[in-house]
Amino acid sequence: MLAMNFRGPFRVRADRDRPFPEIEHPEDAIVKVIRTCICGSDLHLYHGLVPDTRVGTTFGHEFIGEIVEVGSSVEKVKVGDRVMVPFNIACGKCVFCKQEMYGMCHESNPQSTAAGGIFGYSHTTGGYHGGQAEYVRVPYANVGPTVIPDWMDPDDAVLLTDVVPTGYQAAEMAGIQEGDTVVVFGAGPIGIMAAKCAWLFGAGRVIVIDKLDYRLEFVKDFAQCEVYNFQHLEDPVVFIKKITDSLGADVCIDAVGAEAAGDTMNTMLGRKMLMQGGSTTALHWAINSVKKGGIVSIVGVYGPIDALVPIGNVVNKGITIRAGQCSVKRLLPKMIEHVKNGNISPKDMITHRIPLEEVAEGYNIFSKKLDGCIKTVLIPPSA
Ligand SMILES: NC(=O)c1ccc[n+]([C@@H]2O[C@H](COP(=O)([O-])OP(=O)(O)OC[C@H]3O[C@@H](n4cnc5c(N)ncnc54)[C@H](O)[C@@H]3O)[C@@H](O)[C@H]2O)c1
Ligand SMILES: [Zn+2]
Ligand SMILES: [Zn+2]
Repeated sequence: MLAMNFRGPFRVRADRDRPFPEIEHPEDAIVKVIRTCICGSDLHLYHGLVPDTRVGTTFGHEFIGEIVEVGSSVEKVKVGDRVMVPFNIACGKCVFCKQEMYGMCHESNPQSTAAGGIFGYSHTTGGYHGGQAEYVRVPYANVGPTVIPDWMDPDDAVLLTDVVPTGYQAAEMAGIQEGDTVVVFGAGPIGIMAAKCAWLFGAGRVIVIDKLDYRLEFVKDFAQCEVYNFQHLEDPVVFIKKITDSLGADVCIDAVGAEAAGDTMNTMLGRKMLMQGGSTTALHWAINSVKKGGIVSIVGVYGPIDALVPIGNVVNKGITIRAGQCSVKRLLPKMIEHVKNGNISPKDMITHRIPLEEVAEGYNIFSKKLDGCIKTVLIPPSA
């Protein structure tokens, strides 16, 4: 079958001779992929920043498709169902899944106490192949896959497997109170969705910071927020304090993660020399520009090794930090309602639709942020 194949940092290609996935466990299902996306998280793999990303892996943790085969214990879905598949692989039974922390499932990645299983996301998250392929094996098919409602556009559905619930959870973790000023760092799909969802929690003012004007223009309209390009600011932290009565924002959301730009030392240490688990520039800005007693919500992904953060400021300012991989399954029913009610129109952020055969070009465009790219959907020829 045709599938994306990782060949090493900055090198991916579509191969036609990849083996078809098979049922390996009675709870498995095989899904024929209809849509799959490239995520900012895939860029961390593509850029060689995630340990144990093995040559030959197929990436892709955002996908929807049709069930074509099920194992003998699968009851929740059947052949022919069109399903959205949460990016977390979750058993549904472990101590973490029982608390709806599906992003931390212990059974799907038992080698690690630090991360649950994720489709197509290196052997640090279980070594599963992902959905940038014609077919994909979906473990624990009684837990994750959720039937796509008839009325739902597939382009919306695929964004419910990660982007929408992740942006929502970023706002949820931020503990937004009525009237709060919310600053979101990052105007990628995750930051855009976090800004949109901040209003659903009662934000009084939403500010988004990035360096790409085209993304800032988009989010200004999509999420009705204020936007600022940090490259035009002498010091983003001082600027945010100035526009928030000198106290700082009530909450700050880091929707950038390990590949943050804006500070040479952090970029050198975290992205070039790989001496820390990514560049922590956006996280520094978030911690330093939130007000005393405020909340910093981190959805940007960082690597497992140590990284510099201004911990003294966290302590002295009494900041609460909340972070996590999104628990997609927990949020899916609510996200489906928001799409149905018209509160969120995820597909509006799709700028590129690329045949799976051209996956290399898809990664190149998204990685270099060319051609006004916000979100790329890959479409397999068999879809
Ligand atoms: N926690 C989760 O469950 C989860 C799920 C999906 C994605 N993520 C992570 O969220 C992050 C964003 O994902 P995305 O798909 O939006 O990625 P993206 O690459 O499309 O967007 C990142 C944006 O951050 C901007 N940026 C860079 N440095 C910045 C800085 N210092 N301040 C403000 N903006 C800055 C970039 O210009 C870019 O627009 C990634 O780290 C990704 O791995 C986390
Ligand atoms: Zn993703
Ligand atoms: Zn579990």
